[in-house]
Amino acid sequence: MIALENLVRVYGGRAPVQALRGVTLQVHAGEFVAIQGPSGSGKSTLLHLIGALDRPTAGRVTVDGVDLNRLNGDALADFRRETIGFVFQMFHLLPALTALENVMLPLWPYRRQLAFDLRARAQEMLAAVGLGARVDHLPGELSGGEQQRVAIARALVNHPKYLLADEPTGNLDVATAHEIVGLLEQVRCDHGVTIVLVTHDATVAAHADRVVRLRDGCIVADAAQAAS
Ligand SMILES: Nc1ncnc2c1ncn2[C@@H]1O[C@H](COP(=O)(O)OP(=O)(O)O)[C@@H](O)[C@H]1O
Ligand SMILES: [Mg+2]
Repeated sequence: MIALENLVRVYGGRAPVQALRGVTLQVHAGEFVAIQGPSGSGKSTLLHLIGALDRPTAGRVTVDGVDLNRLNGDALADFRRETIGFVFQMFHLLPALTALENVMLPLWPYRRQLAFDLRARAQEMLAAVGLGARVDHLPGELSGGEQQRVAIARALVNHPKYLLADEPTGNLDVATAHEIVGLLEQVRCDHGVTIVLVTHDATVAAHADRVVRLRDGCIVADAAQAAS
């Protein structure tokens, strides 16, 4: 379970910005939660704090009982590598590496310590996202939707318990966006990952089983949705 308690994030500078103003939220194992809100409402900030990419100004994030404020250095890197998968709007694939190499990349330095074969796992994840026949393609030889599928395979390669996706459909056309959210729904079932997806798009959020609305750094609504 992810528990956010009174989370505050103020970005310093000459005119400090209160990006989060006391967010309290729980995400339970197996849920697919969408965080929806307009641009600037604090969605990315929230996701970065859950994924231990950033530190709160006040409050805390607990993941499966571990207080992220207490993790430093190697323990923080281990937490991210073992527990979290991240998907971004811009895919962030390396253009000179094939799809397979991109998926293996985050775990490549650890390949000898893993309990599984990295190459086989990466191939399996590319097949799971429908790209079993594209493993040797470079990102430039793939469509936007296919590139995001590679990024999802990369996020899953470490068997993460939590998949965090920041506007994963923001660069895709409407039809492809819905395919990608459909894929996330399937991945949630097949791989038992808990998904927190950030979006400004209500039609994307509608795929989740719960929608949390953010405005100006505060939660303004939190509602379960019937299966679509
Ligand atoms: N590194 C930063 N430094 C200063 N202000 C920031 C930084 N990142 C985000 N902000 C500000 O914090 C607020 C929330 O940003 P963000 O979490 O990126 O919102 P969203 O993802 O919902 O668009 C915005 O007002 C934004 O301008
Ligand atoms: Mg954002």
